[in-house]
Amino acid sequence: MRLNREIIMSLWIVVALVVFIGVTGNPNRTDSPEADTADMLAHPNTVPELTEEETEILGQQDLLLKVDAEEDFMATGELNPNHYPAQRAAKVVQHYLNTRYGSPYRLFGLHRVHSGNAEDVADSGRKYHLEITAQEIISNTTEKCSAEVLFPRVEQQGSAQVQASCEELLKVNITAQEEALYQQYKNSPNLVSSQYLPDSHGHIDPDMRPFWHLGIVASSFIMLNESTENTLYNMAQVANITQQATENDQLKFDSHILLHDMVSQEIIHWKLLFTWSPPEGVKVLKMEKLPHCHNCEKPPEIN
Ligand SMILES: *[C@@H]1O[C@H](CO)[C@@H](O)[C@H](O)[C@H]1NC(C)=O
Ligand SMILES: *[C@@H]1O[C@H](CO)[C@@H](O)[C@H](O)[C@H]1NC(C)=O
Ligand SMILES: *[C@@H]1O[C@H](CO)[C@@H](O)[C@H](O)[C@H]1NC(C)=O
Ligand SMILES: *[C@@H]1O[C@H](CO)[C@@H](O)[C@H](O)[C@H]1NC(C)=O
Ligand SMILES: *[C@@H]1O[C@H](CO)[C@@H](O)[C@H](O)[C@H]1NC(C)=O
Repeated sequence: MRLNREIIMSLWIVVALVVFIGVTGNPNRTDSPEADTADMLAHPNTVPELTEEETEILGQQDLLLKVDAEEDFMATGELNPNHYPAQRAAKVVQHYLNTRYGSPYRLFGLHRVHSGNAEDVADSGRKYHLEITAQEIISNTTEKCSAEVLFPRVEQQGSAQVQASCEELLKVNITAQEEALYQQYKNSPNLVSSQYLPDSHGHIDPDMRPFWHLGIVASSFIMLNESTENTLYNMAQVANITQQATENDQLKFDSHILLHDMVSQEIIHWKLLFTWSPPEGVKVLKMEKLPHCHNCEKPPEIN
């Protein structure tokens, strides 16, 4: 039943898009990922209320996406930059930038997709060529970047391979801030520990903000590794993070992280062991996906 599949497919896209627009469309909340993810977390399985303007955009997108799904879900050739195939591939570039250059004081976001093109590459998978504007969220700088994302064929079970360079976004000098944070927690007699970043009101204690950022960067390693053409991951919450003693120069953290796949609407729990230091950046030692369970502690809800 091809028709049914298409209808279900377009419904999924629309549902996911409602969440996407709800999350990114409010002009008051474009400055930081904090408010966005907190909002998402509060309503992990519901569709946020839309303003009139957002509904209008959605109406148009709804039509476009239906046409798109009927043409071919895994489109090749020129892509509509606002549609899911291009957006999902571009999101992987964001995770890639975080894994390479992310820091408690440097976080990447996807500002806009300008154009995208997808091609089947014999034997290896599907390659997307993208022109995007990436954003460094903390300094609020943006830069146009060209990127390539290769999703390997499903049976090869590999992760997406990404190439992108956005040097302008690295120009802000964060050396002093990183060094101060490092010294504070390297030399402290007490190991830092925190939970619910952000909490159910979307609040993060200013002292804990660097650890929320570290959690996002570390999660990007998971999201980069796990992303396919059929996922769109966002970091939802650092459920908890605990510093561990080390004998080397790294700060080491054990953390429990909640990711949100906006396509399936699932909240996925991961345990993540990682290190950070200013010269080495974030390195993931171990990532473990926790089984889906109904008795697990649920993310906090806003009443
Ligand atoms: C944006 O914030 C201002 C002031 O906080 C508020 O008056 C306005 O309604 C908000 N707009 C939206 C779309 O939330
Ligand atoms: C970020 O930069 C853009 C463009 O330069 C500006 O419109 C926006 O207000 C800035 N946001 C914040 C939070 O400073
Ligand atoms: C990344 O994902 C692959 C499966 O796609 C898995 O085999 C590999 O262990 C993962 N990497 C890490 C560091 O967990
Ligand atoms: C960044 O700032 C530090 C001091 O805070 C300085 O030593 C270093 O040279 C600067 N790096 C660059 C690339 O400007
Ligand atoms: C971390 O959070 C998860 C999910 O809320 C919970 O299951 C786990 O017990 C917590 N671990 C610690 C050490 O607090």
